[in-house]
Amino acid sequence: MNVQKLIETTKILVADNKGLLAMDESNPTCNKRFAKLSIPQTEESRRAYRELIITTPSLNEYISGAILYDETIRQHKKDGTPFVKAITDTGIILGIKVDIGAKEMAGHSGEKITEGLDGLRDRLKEYFQMGARFAKWRAVITIDDRFPSRDCIEANSQALARYAALCQEVGLVPIVEPEVLMDGEHTIERCYKVTEEVLHTVFNHLYTQRVILEGIILKPNMILSGLNCSAQASVDEVANDTVNCLLRNVPAAVSGIAFLSGGQSSELASARLNAMNLRFKSRSPWALTFSFGRAIQQPALDIWQGKEANVAKAQQALLHRAKCNWAARQGEYKTAMEVYDR
Ligand code: 13P
Repeated sequence: MNVQKLIETTKILVADNKGLLAMDESNPTCNKRFAKLSIPQTEESRRAYRELIITTPSLNEYISGAILYDETIRQHKKDGTPFVKAITDTGIILGIKVDIGAKEMAGHSGEKITEGLDGLRDRLKEYFQMGARFAKWRAVITIDDRFPSRDCIEANSQALARYAALCQEVGLVPIVEPEVLMDGEHTIERCYKVTEEVLHTVFNHLYTQRVILEGIILKPNMILSGLNCSAQASVDEVANDTVNCLLRNVPAAVSGIAFLSGGQSSELASARLNAMNLRFKSRSPWALTFSFGRAIQQPALDIWQGKEANVAKAQQALLHRAKCNWAARQGEYKTAMEVYDR
């Protein structure tokens, strides 16, 4: 393991106010999003959509790394250029989702455990040889009256730590993503408490598995009121609770924190990230950045609709979201930015 190189990659991924673009939806998830817009759910549609994303002009000004799915990392542009080359030629660092999904946890009805550890070492070596320099593993924690159970938090945290250790062994920066879902009627206080327990457990396991904290990026949820909670916290409350929860539970050695968007609207995700940086940037030990999927892609997907004629406008929308989040990293995002020439 080249520790220095690993840490260097981690630092580049969070440098220059850039963030990560999650475009690693599994085929079933991607198809589900296509189905909502009546876009054909075929390999060619998925390829064309991903080509639209990676060929967006100037994307590298705001995006440092892109997370791909196994199908995507093997695909080519229409002109035959491998996606891997098209991405790395722009200076964007190649990432890859390596878990194989969150499955029902045995004996724990309603809870999920993420799978993919078997054979992971060999898969990671292959991805590294293909050009990937970082990886992602997502654990899913659900809040309900009875959840999450201690067992679910423990099992998912241990898997995240074992994945992270394997990544570092081959020279891939692990993105450690324990996502506490926003679905539900729970209050923001409940989300804080659950996230606190999850982070505490994850870092305990990362320590036990001898993971180098300077060589990881944490990808947490923001601390939010449940989607169906009658009391919705303000942008500033979200920013305060999120950063305070992280300050209490994430070691300062970690190089960067890159939030998932988790189903928030694009504008709210930008506004909340902005408030965090506005209030805490000067005293935060880590970069507070983004690794959004839907909050960057959704407007572009809505415009594209699977039609070649809409590609340029969709790319404009994608770039706009990337730029808004780049501004949010600096505390300079304003809702007025949302009015632009479409
Ligand atoms: P969202 O931002 O859409 O939650 O996606 C981020 C991600 O990578 C989930 O694993």
